[in-house]
Amino acid sequence: MYKTIIIGATGIVGQQCITALQNHPWFEITGLAASKNSAGKRYIDAIKNQNGSIQWFCKEQSKTEINNMIVEDGDLVNPEKFDVAFSALETNAAQRIEPRFAKFIPVLSTASAFRYEKDVPILVPGVNNEHIQILHEQKKRGWSGFISPQANCTTTGLAFTLKPIQDKFGIESVIMTSLQAVSGAGRSPGIAVLDLVDNIIPYIPQEEEKVSIEALKILGQKSGEVIQNASFKVSSTCTRVNVLDGHTESVLVITSNKAEVDEIKEAMKSFSDCLSDMDLPSAPNQLLTIMDDPFRPQPRLDRDSEGGMTTSIGRIRKDEVFPNGIKYVLVSHNTRMGAAKGTVLMAEILVKEKMIH
Ligand SMILES: NC(=O)c1ccc[n+]([C@@H]2O[C@H](COP(=O)([O-])OP(=O)(O)OC[C@H]3O[C@@H](n4cnc5c(N)ncnc54)[C@H](OP(=O)(O)O)[C@@H]3O)[C@@H](O)[C@H]2O)c1
Repeated sequence: MYKTIIIGATGIVGQQCITALQNHPWFEITGLAASKNSAGKRYIDAIKNQNGSIQWFCKEQSKTEINNMIVEDGDLVNPEKFDVAFSALETNAAQRIEPRFAKFIPVLSTASAFRYEKDVPILVPGVNNEHIQILHEQKKRGWSGFISPQANCTTTGLAFTLKPIQDKFGIESVIMTSLQAVSGAGRSPGIAVLDLVDNIIPYIPQEEEKVSIEALKILGQKSGEVIQNASFKVSSTCTRVNVLDGHTESVLVITSNKAEVDEIKEAMKSFSDCLSDMDLPSAPNQLLTIMDDPFRPQPRLDRDSEGGMTTSIGRIRKDEVFPNGIKYVLVSHNTRMGAAKGTVLMAEILVKEKMIH
């Protein structure tokens, strides 16, 4: 068992990390850390609000031994006590704390702090496993470990669906509109409840930029020790809607070569089981679930398919305006495959690749 610390364990994604790891066959949670406000408290007390109400956001409960663990200060805890760290830190804290850990051990992160650096790949399981080798570049920073960040939760579902299209038909451009869940905003500062009831928020700061930059990096080619970004264009509109979990995205892809709907479905199906022979505890049977019912996917019905680890796709159809246009709707669980459980799946791949030992 790898001795494992979750940093940022008290937040929405940190809690999902706990549920993804507390019964894991390879990783044993031996440390929990967060800000100095939580440090020194039992975990169950650290997640109470000012009224004493426990702020637990997962469907599964945390185990008693986790609840009784004492939360440490992320700035002070000794990284050398652990084999691997999962970070669900707020971005500024991640910028400061993650390198402290990477100096000694691998850090799997959901934060964006290091995603855009040259020697840091944005790994999406099964989509760009060949980028794993770039992690070795971080040794030049004097680190024994590395930081491997998860993609932004909106980009994750999109990347899974674009990969088979890119491989088979090439992509000229992508136009996407998201309807993102409230949990994607985290706890703090979060969103005022009254802003969201009976409403849609038409702007999420920096989200559209993240989607464009990350999609092109993820789907880029490894060339020597760097990643050459993919060259297609991405245009997105990201909105926040009154849904608890699960991001919905309406996608239009203009392909380089003409593709029929059945060919797109076929390409997606054959990509879907690309992890199946790796024997990974958190991998879904299918990375993509294609739905023929035109009323699916829906976040409430489909976000938890395969434990929130599959991207559900429906309404795959030809576009009426662009000759090479293909449209579809996807639903992806933002805190499971899009964050905590996605990092756990990536960690399992890194164990198989002998990057975590
Ligand atoms: N929510 C999603 O769907 C989602 C998806 C993908 C990626 N992400 C990313 O994942 C990360 C966590 O997101 P979240 O939604 O879980 O946020 P969150 O609920 O606000 O939790 C933030 C965590 O960071 C800790 N933290 C904050 N300031 C700190 C400091 N100065 N020093 C040490 N720890 C500090 C908090 O500890 P305290 O409780 O002690 O303050 C808490 O554990 C973020 O970087 C976010 O962008 C989120």
